[in-house]
Parts: sequence; C-alpha cells; structure tokens
Amino acid sequence: MSMASVEEAKKMAAFLACEREKDTIMKAEVIGLGTGSTIKYFIDKCVRENVLENKIIVSSSLDTVLYILNKNIKACLYDLFGLDKIDIYIDGADEVSNRLDLIKGRGAALFREKYLALNSVRRVYIVDYTKFNNKDYLYRKPIPVEVIPMTIRYVFRKIIELGIGQPRIRMGVRKDGPVITDNYGLIIDIVDYKYIYNALDVDRMIKQIHGVLATGLFPRDLVDILYVGYKDEVKIYSGSV
Ligand code: A5P
Repeated sequence: MSMASVEEAKKMAAFLACEREKDTIMKAEVIGLGTGSTIKYFIDKCVRENVLENKIIVSSSLDTVLYILNKNIKACLYDLFGLDKIDIYIDGADEVSNRLDLIKGRGAALFREKYLALNSVRRVYIVDYTKFNNKDYLYRKPIPVEVIPMTIRYVFRKIIELGIGQPRIRMGVRKDGPVITDNYGLIIDIVDYKYIYNALDVDRMIKQIHGVLATGLFPRDLVDILYVGYKDEVKIYSGSV
C-alpha cells in the first residue's frame, strides 16, 4: 500500500461524497466542515463545483477556516457561538469499526467536531481504506481526550485508576510542551485500552471524569453515512456492516 494509493483513495471518496451530497448541500443553509487532509480534498472539489457559494460555513478548526479563506469563495464563515442547527456536517475520521463507531481527533479538533456532529441533521464521514478496521470493535488508534489544562494530572490519574488504558499527554511538534487546542485545552491520548465494542459506554465513562471536555469516540449514533475509498472503488455504508 503506497502513500500515493492512500491519497488517491481519500480523493476518490471525497469526490464521490461531493457528487452524492451535492443536492443536500445546495439546499442547505448552514454547512459544517471538519478537519484533516480528506476534508480538504472534499473542499477542493466543492469549490470547483461552486457548491459552497453563498453558504454559511461553520468549521471545527482554525486550520480549516484558513484553508477556506484561501479559496476566495463567497461564503460566510460563522463562529460556533450562537449556532442552532447545521444542515449537513462532513468530516474525516481516524478509525472506523464494522459497527460504524469512530475514533476522531488526530488533529486535536475533537471537541468542536463533536459539537458540529451533535448539532447536525446529516453527518457524513469520508475515509480511506486504511481507517476501516473490519472488526466489530475499535482497537487501533489512541483515544484522544480534551481536558481543561489545570485538571490534566487528575484526569491522567483517573484514567489509570479506572483501568481505561494508558494515558499520554500529546506533545507539540515544532513547539516545546503540550499541544494546545483551538479551545485552549490539552489533549491526552489513551493507548493500550481494551477492545471497544460499545463506544457510547466508554465515552460516558471517560466523560464523567472532572475536567474532561470531550473524547474522540464518536458512537454510531453520530454517523449517518460513511464513504470509504479503496484503490479502485468507493463503498458507502449507512448502517453497520
Ligand atoms: C481531526 O481532529 C480528526 O478527527 C480528523 O477528522 C481525522 O484525523 C482525519 O484526518 P485525515 O483526513 O487527515 O486522515
């Protein structure tokens, strides 16, 4: 599996998602856009097809906002503050199980991504084949957890005490110290956890620790449709596999 084929698979899935979701996007007033390389392919395609013109766009990260601003399109970028309803939200993911539970948050945008998903009528995810784990459980990617900075040592301890897994503070690259999110939170990545058959339960268990803002576990309830790009085709799932 070359890197080129992974990028091609992402692109193919993003292009098909744009084609198939176009009608909904055209009718939508507010569109939510997530974070990462796959969503950028999706944005590129939408811009070429003029699909985002005159829309209200809310995004899960500064990274995506800057990307959209560079496109010079006539769209209105809104802050998440005061947001009521998003007609359609499109994003990538880091791991997907057969049940269509997801792990997200590699880009540290999980809190806003979940907020977008919770406020959206239709939730669309686009991934390449390396993300789809073909299991009934999640097990491969670290579970990101965003925390209020002052609580980091407490949350760290609680994750160990509750036997959830091994916590690691996410450190910056080309910056000394921890990664600081767009909400000024810190990220703990949980590794060595047990297979996750029920993402909702594990999400709840972690969320009850004081100081946790959100986890990167997106239970199947937050997924309406998934586009998975392979080398020569794109598969579409809207129920569990
Ligand atoms: C951002 O925090 C993540 O949830 C991304 O949506 C996810 O990492 C997908 O990124 P790529 O499309 O770059 O793989």
